[in-house]
Amino acid sequence: MTTHTVVMIPGDGIGPEVTASARRILEAAEAPVTFVERHAGVAALERGADHVLPQDTIEAVREHGVALKGPCTTPVGGGFSSVNVALRKKLNLYAAVRPVRSLPGVKTRFENVDLIVVRENTEGLYSGIENRITEDVIVSMKVATREACLRIAQWAFRYATDRGREKVTSFHKANIMKLSDGLFIEQSRLVHERDYRNIRYEEVIIDAGSMRIVQDPSQFDIILCENLYGDIMSDLCAGLVGGLGVTPGANIGDTDAVFEAVHGSAPDIAGQDVANPLAIVMSAAMMLNHISESRNDENARKSAKRIKGAYNSALEDGQKTRDLGGDLGTRAFTDAVIERL
Ligand code: NAI
Repeated sequence: MTTHTVVMIPGDGIGPEVTASARRILEAAEAPVTFVERHAGVAALERGADHVLPQDTIEAVREHGVALKGPCTTPVGGGFSSVNVALRKKLNLYAAVRPVRSLPGVKTRFENVDLIVVRENTEGLYSGIENRITEDVIVSMKVATREACLRIAQWAFRYATDRGREKVTSFHKANIMKLSDGLFIEQSRLVHERDYRNIRYEEVIIDAGSMRIVQDPSQFDIILCENLYGDIMSDLCAGLVGGLGVTPGANIGDTDAVFEAVHGSAPDIAGQDVANPLAIVMSAAMMLNHISESRNDENARKSAKRIKGAYNSALEDGQKTRDLGGDLGTRAFTDAVIERL
């Protein structure tokens, strides 16, 4: 059986606990992966690195092409830029994909939510270009390039086609940011009209779109956003299906892919064995599907399916962590999933 090397980045806060859970479940499911461990965030500084994103971590992801990453704390102040923003830029992981689906046994306001947020991951207001104009005036630059807007639109429509999805909706504010958001929707429209007439396309102003999502999420299918809007919409949509503990994610480029939960390092609950590991476990299943598709490995797809079946069955049986109204700790929930593999 072919095995694939995956770079495991435990991260900070609850990161080591939830990535350990994902690792145990991957091993129990006999997923065709082996791990090399690298560090980022405060964990890297504590191990003597001079930066929150050490060069050997970046190089390992470049070498192996796939990483499973726990959340990283970015120290406030001290001149450190965000690990996540830096990782996405350095590896050109331009597409963030966050599937948001209702889970069995997790009661929320809506049933059968099935949305995918696709977020441009490299520019917008995350360009990091900020200037102090005077003592009292700061300007942050929102960057939109034709290349990145076109690339993410192509990615979203291709993804929609591959997954049999029916509609892409661009969320924007081009009525106010006429040039930057204007370019974003212009490129989405162009890709739709030129290459993907078979998929429905609509444009929605983000404030009205946010209201529509919380009224009736079934109106949407794939939501395509620039960077900041995508960040906010991912968390908003996570709230529709049970919160940050159950929302997985992936950051994908042309050659490399990093899989991680949407949530952060949750310092308020770190080290207490109460974090929900499901989001990173779901990200690990996405990772196996990615390996299966990009390297044509049927075993990876089968393991992903087994893992998904096992966590759904655990939830159906009422096995839940505290954030979902249950009383299991991180390790006990992991055991419950492994028992059902
Ligand atoms: P957070 O997502 O860490 O926590 C928000 C709330 O959700 C907290 O009450 C936390 O306890 C809860 N929560 C998060 N994940 C959970 C889980 N798996 N199970 C149960 N409860 C969970 O967001 P916050 O507090 O804004 O950020 C904390 C740190 O994480 C910051 O340093 C931030 O920069 C970093 N961060 C890192 C990310 C990444 O590495 N991908 C993403 C978001 C934030």
